[in-house]
Amino acid sequence: MERIILSNKYIDELRALPSSILDGVAAQCERHLAWWTTLDVVKHSSLHTDVCRVQLNQNLGVVVKNMTEEVQHGIQSELIDCSSENGFTYLTAFSIVMKITSHTVNRVLVGLPLCRNKEWLETTMAYTVNAMSISAALRPRNVLMRPFIYLCLDARRKVKQNIAKANELLVPIIERLQKEIQDGRGEATLVSWMIQNSKGKDGRPSEIAHKSLFLSLASIHSSVMAIQHAIYDLCQHPEYVKPLREEIEECLAQNQGWTLVALNSMKKLDSFLKESQRINHPGLFSFNRKVIRPIRLSDNTVLPAGSFISMPTYSLARDPEYYTDPLEFKPFRFYEMREKDPENSNRHQYASTSRSNLAFGYGRAACPGRFLATAEIKLICAQLIHRFDMRFPEGQTMRPDNVYIDERITPDRGQQIGFRLR
Ligand code: HEM
Repeated sequence: MERIILSNKYIDELRALPSSILDGVAAQCERHLAWWTTLDVVKHSSLHTDVCRVQLNQNLGVVVKNMTEEVQHGIQSELIDCSSENGFTYLTAFSIVMKITSHTVNRVLVGLPLCRNKEWLETTMAYTVNAMSISAALRPRNVLMRPFIYLCLDARRKVKQNIAKANELLVPIIERLQKEIQDGRGEATLVSWMIQNSKGKDGRPSEIAHKSLFLSLASIHSSVMAIQHAIYDLCQHPEYVKPLREEIEECLAQNQGWTLVALNSMKKLDSFLKESQRINHPGLFSFNRKVIRPIRLSDNTVLPAGSFISMPTYSLARDPEYYTDPLEFKPFRFYEMREKDPENSNRHQYASTSRSNLAFGYGRAACPGRFLATAEIKLICAQLIHRFDMRFPEGQTMRPDNVYIDERITPDRGQQIGFRLR
């Protein structure tokens, strides 16, 4: 897809435009060929983003409590063999982080017991892989050829199977919740909030099940990548383990354990994660939008209707205009900014977006799950740092290079990490 890569000097005049003029969902649907990948489920309504923006963010305290249980359960089942007597146990970071994160995010999405159901977890992961592989297979192809190639893709059949399986597992739960909500009960899950806030066709159980698959796609992989990067950065810079552990222990002691307030107080960890994200952006571009009606910018540049725009996220994160020594990994860079400028401390938090940091997008359509992402990524990283020593295999001192695929950037998936219970 041809795109106009715009300077971020235009971002403030573009950020507030309504979707009838500049549309993020339309850009996402066309980029991922949503009518084939089935991601167009989000085109009909904004129910899934509305509940993230309102109910999810209003209930983060209870969500953190539930996620803590799930992280502990995940660590218990995945890292049980990493006892201190056996020395370090080497495991593939990607698969461990994927398992712990998908349990944790699914606790918020569908709740217990489905968040621990192997079939459900496999279905959500497979849906992401299959939907993305359809778009990756078709995008480089000639538009006229795409329908024929689509018919030959194995992933086409698999996506349909994934949706059918999601219906089989989730629809009975949605039907039970619909009754409970009518009786004034409900759960602190995204599915429950979608049921409560749906109108008409939106409330059909199959529609909510499909939207849940979309939410798992939007949330799990990006969080897994952030946690993997943080572990690799920490193993390359072990001198930061001590100050981070001290901060975690202090915040837990002062705030009754693993609470939202405790996580919010972990400012050094927040900074470490933000710097890790700055250096390891998930992609080259963000702020992807479709121009629906022609836009005349302040310098008279015209963006024609039907064109697509993006901002150069990756380059902005390395721009010396915004960051001193931009190529250097300085884990407490944002912590120091917060300490120097307490009045604007919030601007330098992990979840904050700015003209120079577009990892979560920007403006009206910025990631509505970024406060959850912050809490969940911090919680998983803090629990790992608190309870385990982690290291690269003997002889390795540097983190593996990132992998560039198309415009996406991912951490190495084969890296082994040694875990040892403290
Ligand atoms: C490190 C983790 C994450 C990153 C880097 C990330 C990044 C992004 C970005 C760049 C966008 C597009 C924003 C724009 O166009 O301005 C987005 C949209 C979105 N994100 Fe996140 N995200 C993360 C985690 C999550 C989580 C945990 C959720 C959980 C609910 C979530 C839910 C969404 C949703 C629903 C959308 C909107 C999709 C739509 O418009 O239909 N994200 N995210």
